[in-house]
Amino acid sequence: MKKTLALIMAVCLCVFMMAACSSSDTPASESPSEASTDNAAEATEAPADDAAAEASTEASSDDAAADSNSDNSEKTIGISMPTQSLERWNRDGAYLDEQFQAAGYKTILSYSDNKNEQQVADIENMLAQGVDLLVVAAIDGNALNTVMNDAGDAGIPIIAYDRLIMNDNVDYYVSFDNYTVGTLQGQYIIDTLDLDNANGTTYNMEITGGDPADNNAPFFYQGAIDTLQPYLDNGTLKVVSGQVDFDVVGTPQWSTDEALDRAQNVLASYYADGTQLDVWLCSNDSTALGVTQAVTSDYAGDNSVLITGQDGDVANLRNIKDGSQSMTVYKAVANEAVVTLDLAKAILDGKNVGDALIKDSNWDFECIYDTESYETSAGHACPSFLLTPDVVTTDNMEEKLVTPGYYTVDADGYLEATNG
Ligand code: GAL
Repeated sequence: MKKTLALIMAVCLCVFMMAACSSSDTPASESPSEASTDNAAEATEAPADDAAAEASTEASSDDAAADSNSDNSEKTIGISMPTQSLERWNRDGAYLDEQFQAAGYKTILSYSDNKNEQQVADIENMLAQGVDLLVVAAIDGNALNTVMNDAGDAGIPIIAYDRLIMNDNVDYYVSFDNYTVGTLQGQYIIDTLDLDNANGTTYNMEITGGDPADNNAPFFYQGAIDTLQPYLDNGTLKVVSGQVDFDVVGTPQWSTDEALDRAQNVLASYYADGTQLDVWLCSNDSTALGVTQAVTSDYAGDNSVLITGQDGDVANLRNIKDGSQSMTVYKAVANEAVVTLDLAKAILDGKNVGDALIKDSNWDFECIYDTESYETSAGHACPSFLLTPDVVTTDNMEEKLVTPGYYTVDADGYLEATNG
C-alpha cells in the first residue's frame, strides 16, 4: 500500500505540474467535462508523460487497482470540490483525480469558486455528462438539495466527501473524525499551558470558528469547547471578549480576511489596554493565518500567543516552523482519497459496503465505520468512514509530513506540498 501511495504521489506531482497552468477555479463558462478533457489531453501529450504513464501503469498493476481496471474504463466519476482558494482542496482534488484515473476511471473534476450556484451548475453538468458516481465536497451542505435529488432520481450514487450534505440521497460520508479535530486542539492547549497545574493563574483566550455553512465547523468547535469547558468553568481560561458562542465566532467561507478583521477588532477593543493574550483557538489554518497576522501586527504584548490550526497548509507550516503558529491538526487527504476510491469501487461493483470495506482493504492507516454520528436529516443516519486526524508541531513535522511523502523540504527548510 505504501508503495502504491508513493507511486500515486509521483504521478500526482507530474500531472499537477502539468495542470498548474490551469490552476484557477474552473470558470462558470467552462463546463467541467471540457476542463477534464483538456487536462487529460494535456497529460497524454506532455513531455513528462512517459514517467507519468509508467508510474500510472505500475500503480494500477498494484493489488487494489489492478483487478478492475479494464471494467472501470467505461465509468466516469464526477468530483466536485468547493474552491481552489483554500489550499487543502487543491490537494484533495489532485489526489482524488489522480487516484481514480490510476484505477482506470474517467474523471470530471470541478472547483466551484466557493459559489453555491456554481457548484450546483457544475454537478448538473456532470449529471448531463452521464457520470456513474459523484464525489462532492459541499460549499454549503444545505444548498445542494435540488441537484442531489436529481442525482438520486437518476440513481447516481453520491459520496459526501469531507463535508456532509444535508440530503438523504447521499449514500456515504467519507471524512476525518471532525469532533476529534477540536478535541486535539483543546488538549494541545491544556497540555502546552499545563492548565492542570495553573495554580490560580488565568490564561486569556479568544476563539475563531469556521464557516457556519460547513457542517464540519460546529463539530470542530464543540470538540474543542467540550475539552476546554472545565478550565473555562474554573477560571483557568477566560475569554476576555466574552465572544464564545459559535454564532459569534464563526468565519464565513473560512476566509482569512474575515478572520483577520475580527481579530483586529477584538484586539483593539479588549487588549489595547495591555491585557495579555495567551491563546487563540482557531478551527483551521486559513483562519489561523488571519489571526496570526492580526496578532503579529496589532497585539502589543511581547509574550508568544498559542495559536491552533488545522490542515497543514504550507503558509501555516512555515509559521509553525517560525514560531508564530503553534500547531495544526493534520488530515492526510491522500488517505481520504484512498478510502473514497475503494468505497466508490465497492459501490460500483455492487459489493457489500460497511465494515467489510475496512476489513477487505489493505489500508495502512486508521479508519472507522460509523453509522450513528452523522445524519443527513433528523433520524436519517449516513453511514460514514472516518479517518483519524493527527497533531503536527515543529517537533514532529518531519516525521508526520515529510517521511510519509506528503511534503518535501525546500532549500530554506520550509515544507512544500507534494501535490496541490
Ligand atoms: C472543512 C475541512 C477543513 C478545512 C475547512 C476549510 O470542512 O474539514 O479541513 O479545510 O473546511 O476549507
